[in-house]
Amino acid sequence: MSAPIIQLDRVTRSVSSGAWTLTILDDISLAIPAGQFVAVIGPSGSGKSTLLGLMAGLDRPTRGTVIVDGHDLGSLGEDEVARIRGRTIGVVFQSFHLIPTLTAQETVQVPLELAGRTDAARRAAQLLDRVGLAQRGHHHPVQLSGGEQQRVAIARAFASEGSVLLADEPTGSLDSRSGDMVLELLVGMNTELHTTLVMVTHNPDIARRADRVITLADGRVGSDSLSS
Ligand SMILES: Nc1ncnc2c1ncn2[C@@H]1O[C@H](COP(=O)(O)OP(=O)(O)O)[C@@H](O)[C@H]1O
Ligand SMILES: [Mg+2]
Repeated sequence: MSAPIIQLDRVTRSVSSGAWTLTILDDISLAIPAGQFVAVIGPSGSGKSTLLGLMAGLDRPTRGTVIVDGHDLGSLGEDEVARIRGRTIGVVFQSFHLIPTLTAQETVQVPLELAGRTDAARRAAQLLDRVGLAQRGHHHPVQLSGGEQQRVAIARAFASEGSVLLADEPTGSLDSRSGDMVLELLVGMNTELHTTLVMVTHNPDIARRADRVITLADGRVGSDSLSS
């Protein structure tokens, strides 16, 4: 068994105002080995997005440590976390989060350029081809359907060639046909590129395909099971 690429040790995330405290995640410990496809399920409000945000370094734990690819994200400055995210972590959101002024090609190419790749344009074109959008590189988000926008977001997430892919209900705002295509891409590219995939989902069919299913309930791990 390989060393965990994501490790949470006694992580609590709470928000306070005056005498009042809301505990969103309560003393969670988890180790995710490199290459694993983990589905995170649980009712709305159980803390799934907060958990993913901590793994992405977009949020910080109130107590405990979050270590991704050897970096203790809570101990680092914002710039350093952003640099690690750019190199190591790809994130896909339910609502795509594309920049309206960038074409599909630019969306994928810019992070590659920021990573210093001299073949950024060629690699971006390859990734767009992989998600079935070879002909749409010059289009802006408004010219693309929801499913197509999400496929651009997936190409961007894999562009960093980082080792960790985090997806928060990536098919949640798509019809079932587009959703299936997005799912196939995420799972297929995760296998091809040897990344680690943590996906929040409400879809039991997706959870069934994962290597491991973690159920959150009220900010705690209710169950954690490996598929047979
Ligand atoms: N910054 C915040 N301030 C106050 N409450 C928050 C904040 N972020 C999340 N919450 C609350 O924490 C709970 C878990 O949220 P979330 O992680 O988004 O759950 P899920 O993704 O499982 O629906 C919800 O009750 C939500 O309202
Ligand atoms: Mg959520």
